[in-house]
Amino acid sequence: MLQGKKIILGISGSIAAYKSAFLTRLLIKAGAEVQVLMTPSAQDFITPLTLSTLSKRPVYSEVSSETGWNNHVELGLWADAMLIAPVTATTLAKLANGLCDNILVAAYLSARCPVFFAPAMDLDMWHHPATRHNVERLISYGNQLIPVGVGELASGLSGEGRMAEPEDIVAYLERFFAQKQDLAGKKILLTAGPTYEPIDPVRFIGNRSSGKMGIALADAAARRGAEVTLILGPSKLTPQEKAVKLIKVETAQEMHDAAVQLFPQMNAAILAAAVADYRPKTVATEKIKKKGEELQLDLIKNPDIAADLGKMKQAGQLLIGFALETNDEESNAQGKLEKKNFDCIVLNSLRDAGAGFNHDTNKISILFRNNKKRDFELKSKNAVAEDILQAMIDLFNV
Ligand code: C5P
Repeated sequence: MLQGKKIILGISGSIAAYKSAFLTRLLIKAGAEVQVLMTPSAQDFITPLTLSTLSKRPVYSEVSSETGWNNHVELGLWADAMLIAPVTATTLAKLANGLCDNILVAAYLSARCPVFFAPAMDLDMWHHPATRHNVERLISYGNQLIPVGVGELASGLSGEGRMAEPEDIVAYLERFFAQKQDLAGKKILLTAGPTYEPIDPVRFIGNRSSGKMGIALADAAARRGAEVTLILGPSKLTPQEKAVKLIKVETAQEMHDAAVQLFPQMNAAILAAAVADYRPKTVATEKIKKKGEELQLDLIKNPDIAADLGKMKQAGQLLIGFALETNDEESNAQGKLEKKNFDCIVLNSLRDAGAGFNHDTNKISILFRNNKKRDFELKSKNAVAEDILQAMIDLFNV
């Protein structure tokens, strides 16, 4: 499964670094190409010579050395995956904050590939709120935590904090790369994020959508082999997969125009954007001054992207919508399914804890045209994306 995969193995200074030799050997045995990067303190625990012998490549530990500049940007683009194992508390903090003082962090910041990190530290360090915060932050950037093991620690304490065993780390990567290419040859259009409707040069009407769900869908579809185009409203997040074609827009009208132009070439569109239904009728050319006690803004209706694509839809094309409801969830979603000519609609309720805007998790139901419904548990948005794509694949196959 790892045959021909290019993997950067980043090693930081923990006693668990002695396991990196086994890890390198297992990765090489599985057919991967391994480029080892070490932090300076990792070399106190294991020698670069051991790792370069096992990986059959020079090991880099400095951004520049007497022999030249080690191009971390090139490395970041070369890799199919970056695996940082072990990650110490210090390296974790550097990664979470972008503190770029060694080649490992430099390559991490330049990497466009999926990043996996396997922490190793003592029990209390692992449970410290600062560490918890840094781990959560790294996950929120789309990196994948390889969970720590439980057992005897180098300090003599026993508990959580051991680096996962090399065999388990390799199995983790193998599972990731074993991803089915069941959307190969399919062209998928996605809308995601909020829209901003300008009021004047500095103000706008927006909403709390983060774009996380739609971006997770774009990444998951690309991993399954689809040709993905993502029309993304103003969002701080971006897709991880370099194959995703990104079109950034601001307003509902811009999102509409891009979607209407692209939809005829697509096999499916998934509309996860939270589009403003109305926009200011006129946009002031100067910043509106504070005057009276009240200010009236006239709003006019925005185009409904979903409804327009629903009208354009041809046989064989699929259209999947979202409904975020606060009340009468199912009947509202069912109504939208029919009105907008969706093939299915993903319902999330703001009443469910952990679902909806800005969360990393979501709890959904999928409603189909034949009145069938599937309910799912609360899951990470990445796992929810897989469920939605599976529903889409099932619809392609009927
Ligand atoms: O009617 P409502 O906005 O709740 O419908 C939600 C679904 O319609 C979502 O899939 C959303 O992306 C889509 N939508 C759209 N254009 C709009 C409004 C909603 O594509 N102007």
